[in-house]
Amino acid sequence: MRVLGIETSCDETGIAVYDTEHGLLSHELYSQVKLHADYGGVVPELASRDHVRKTLPLIQKALKAANTSPDQLDGIAYTAGPGLIGALLVGASIGRSLAFGWDIPAIGVHHMEGHLLAPMLEEQQPDFPFLALLVSGGHTQLVRVDGIGVYELLGESVDDAAGEAFDKTAKLLGLDYPGGPRLAKLAEQGEPSRFEFPRPMTDRPGLDFSFSGLKTAAANAIAGARHEGQSQSKQGASEQGLSEQTKADIALAFQTAVVDTLVIKCRRALKQTGLKRLVIAGGVSANVELRRALADTMTKIGGQVFYPRGEFCTDNGAMIAYAGACRLAAGEQVDAGVKVRPRWPMTELKPPAI
Ligand code: KG4
Ligand code: ZN
Repeated sequence: MRVLGIETSCDETGIAVYDTEHGLLSHELYSQVKLHADYGGVVPELASRDHVRKTLPLIQKALKAANTSPDQLDGIAYTAGPGLIGALLVGASIGRSLAFGWDIPAIGVHHMEGHLLAPMLEEQQPDFPFLALLVSGGHTQLVRVDGIGVYELLGESVDDAAGEAFDKTAKLLGLDYPGGPRLAKLAEQGEPSRFEFPRPMTDRPGLDFSFSGLKTAAANAIAGARHEGQSQSKQGASEQGLSEQTKADIALAFQTAVVDTLVIKCRRALKQTGLKRLVIAGGVSANVELRRALADTMTKIGGQVFYPRGEFCTDNGAMIAYAGACRLAAGEQVDAGVKVRPRWPMTELKPPAI
């Protein structure tokens, strides 16, 4: 079965062609980062309009790269939620209409199920059951996965998602949007012992997260360092404001606190469930330190960690084509209406209907 995947839930237009026999045939991505950079974050209306401009040309490009004509497609999968409503509607309208025109089935995919299954696009795939740590700009969740559509939510963030905390702290440090990867780069130059941030909610039982306090810790560290800089500059010892080294030290302290917190909660969830396989997915799973720390953890307990290649950690069409293909292959499809769900708990999903 050959499936066209369309991802437009936020600020990336991702298109891919996935074949259940031959694997991923092509994938194309257009990032709107430059469009939103001046605003310091995603402007929903601009995002929708850019998806309108980019989706069809990218579909043509992806089909050509996959050497596939529309009559060779067996279905179309598009992200139906969660995400920005206007952005979702663009992908859903285009996907649903093309499927109608080409007389093939369509399926609305849950964006986080796409992330969750992204490691299945790699050579080494996890068997079920496994524990999944989903860390993106909108979600931080620990999920027990017993099969496609069999998800038990073990814990989640009660406030900011991990990626959101990365982005907000990066903004405080004066880094451009999207801040997460930039903060991670800056942290490479940081000195480890200068700042110490809390590991929120690790001193009590449970698997929930809270990251908004870390942003405040970073804001306080920045204010403190600035104050120090100002009093020193009165004595002519240093220039006003934050030095690059101080920024890097704060970035490292923040990243270490997030990574430690995620590792502590993963260890706890693995112990609680007795699982030995861990999947990390979503934009923050591109973070090298997080991958390293979780790989160490899994080696220590004799388990295995799985994650998608870097470009499939963040939003992409391949994960949507794959998740959609799993459901379409089982005979599931949507009716002719264009429906999206900006909010959509993943635990509402069911195994593919046969
Ligand atoms: O999954 P994703 O592309 O979009 C959502 O579904 O939200 O995740 C984007 C998030 C952003 O918050 C971004 O800053 C973060 O992932 N991110 C990172 C890294 N790469 C992307 N955070 C930390 N380190 C990275 N290397
Ligand atoms: Zn995402």
